[in-house]
Amino acid sequence: MIKEIGRAKINLTLDILGVRADGYHELSTIMQTVALADELELKKISSGVNLKMDASRIKGGEKISVDEKNLAWRAAVEFQKFCGKDFGVEISLIKKIPVAAGLAGGSTDAAAVIRGMNRLYELNLTESELCEIGGRVGSDVPFCVIGGTCLAEGRGEILTKLAPIKNFSVVLAKPDGEISTAWAYKTYDENPAKIHPPNAEIIEQLKRGEYDAAFKNFSNVFEDVAIKKIPVIVDLKSKMLAAGAKVALMSGSGATVFALTDEKSVKKISSSVEGTGAQVFITKIF
Ligand code: C5P
Repeated sequence: MIKEIGRAKINLTLDILGVRADGYHELSTIMQTVALADELELKKISSGVNLKMDASRIKGGEKISVDEKNLAWRAAVEFQKFCGKDFGVEISLIKKIPVAAGLAGGSTDAAAVIRGMNRLYELNLTESELCEIGGRVGSDVPFCVIGGTCLAEGRGEILTKLAPIKNFSVVLAKPDGEISTAWAYKTYDENPAKIHPPNAEIIEQLKRGEYDAAFKNFSNVFEDVAIKKIPVIVDLKSKMLAAGAKVALMSGSGATVFALTDEKSVKKISSSVEGTGAQVFITKIF
């Protein structure tokens, strides 16, 4: 038996550059791992996939499928297909990351299964092979395999590792309501953004440690899309900023808002969103 950790991600900045011939969107996004994580245990079984899940700690956890639609299950199947061998696995998953929240909760479980099966069966697949398997499961999975701070381009699978950013504390506020990624892209296409984040400049600023300048440039083109469905996002951002957040922005296709801050302001920021109905998670850059 082996243990794996599937950490959540936030998007420090997210841009859509256009629609591709295959229907996917060309992305440019800086992804960052945070410490908030799901926990997994993997055991060898004679064949196939067996998934057990405890989602009692998260709101709406009862709606997560525990079958072949679950990304953890799909990752195990893609791993077996890639290897051309039925490496049987029993996966026990404890969910702590909220679902459909823009935090890659499902993708990170898939990535943990891929890393874990490689260890469990002592296969020594390379990082790029693990990412290739991940890409067959979902666009965010390759990043979740690697983690850290990365620029993700293409569908999300072309990754450039960036220098780690300072270990800020992170406050996550997950409002009620879920956003499906496919819906967010479709709605974005009907009304694409006119202003785009200057990602090349942001990367240089982060590299030089000019955080305040970089934070002013952070933006996410999905924010306006998500706000139409979940208007409280505007409120969460302004409350967190007023309470001392260095930056407050929506992650991924939403609807979680993250705030980066020094440790001393964490309490004030998390208290500032009380009464909005949002679930609050305190974590840090990982
Ligand atoms: O790759 P994944 O299955 O996570 O993507 C979910 C949906 O999000 C896709 O079906 C597609 O509609 C959309 N998507 C996209 N462009 C991307 C990533 C995802 O259009 N780069």
